[in-house]
Amino acid sequence: MKIGIASDHGGFEIKYQLIERLKKLQYNIIDFGNYVNNPNDDYPDYVLPLAHAVSAGEVDKGIAICGSGVGASIAANKIEGARAALVHDHFAAHQGVEDDNMNILCLGGRIIGIEKAAELSQTFLNARFSNAERHNRRLLKIDQSTNNYFG
Ligand code: RB5
Repeated sequence: MKIGIASDHGGFEIKYQLIERLKKLQYNIIDFGNYVNNPNDDYPDYVLPLAHAVSAGEVDKGIAICGSGVGASIAANKIEGARAALVHDHFAAHQGVEDDNMNILCLGGRIIGIEKAAELSQTFLNARFSNAERHNRRLLKIDQSTNNYFG
């Protein structure tokens, strides 16, 4: 499985720890940056290319890390085909994939430590979309909603 990962300075340290953990589990990791710890960098510069790659199928799933995970999720969800969520609990890490086909996990590097980040990532990566009719119906409503209500 090919996994994309991205972070700004808020997730820089934990991103490299997580890459090591995931490589040991035989995941193929593509790092979308940042490659240096620059306190002035901007998370969209790394999260948006990751979200494009997920949407285009260049990677199977993505993990985006900023300080809180909030900015990363807001940025990633701007990209059509990206379904990103900030998740810091085990239940949502698998249910978000099973029901909502979440394809980008967002983490807060200033909120959780490497153990929790690794466990959440493994749960997310092991989960599979159920493909149930009701979940596809809901996702279709989201896909069809762009600018439909007010535009
Ligand atoms: C950067 O300092 C910080 O604002 C960013 O990493 C993130 O937390 C945004 O949501």
